[in-house]
Amino acid sequence: MAKKVTRQVNAEIFDFSELDATEQSLVSQARQAVSNAYAPYSNFHVGSVVLLANGEKIQGSNQENAAYPSGLCAERVAIFSAGANYPDEAIVKIAIAAKPAKANDYVMASSCGNCRQAMMEYQSKQSSEIELLFVQPNDQIMKTTVRDLLPFGFDSESLLKFQP
Ligand code: THU
Repeated sequence: MAKKVTRQVNAEIFDFSELDATEQSLVSQARQAVSNAYAPYSNFHVGSVVLLANGEKIQGSNQENAAYPSGLCAERVAIFSAGANYPDEAIVKIAIAAKPAKANDYVMASSCGNCRQAMMEYQSKQSSEIELLFVQPNDQIMKTTVRDLLPFGFDSESLLKFQP
């Protein structure tokens, strides 16, 4: 008889005005970062900002390439930049905003699987949760966590326990 295994995932949707000042400024910066995207192939412009434990904010945007797989999503541009420049600072929150060239409002960009995996890696490296803030249309913000995005994820614990 099969055993049922379930994972509950959670997210909350807030109005921008309900966020605290730190989150509002993080989200505003993610919206601004959208304009730095280099996305001539998809025209899907994404901005992302990482908030570190020391209060520093690291910005990223998607950077595309004529050889498509050589490009990178906004989230990983920001996360890797944070990891490279502040290797000992924990990531507290990441805000993500996206605006296709022809759109009048922001659209939800639910991070791709590779970005979710990269987020999970840094979360397990620092052993503290990373909160995610996704900009949605009409000034709505969806708050969730990396574990909620990748409930059955593979992380360092899955690997390192088998090291000699
Ligand atoms: N993209 C991101 O930067 N973040 C996401 O969460 C979703 C997708 C980028 C990758 C590519 O440059 C373009 O959006 C279309 O997929």
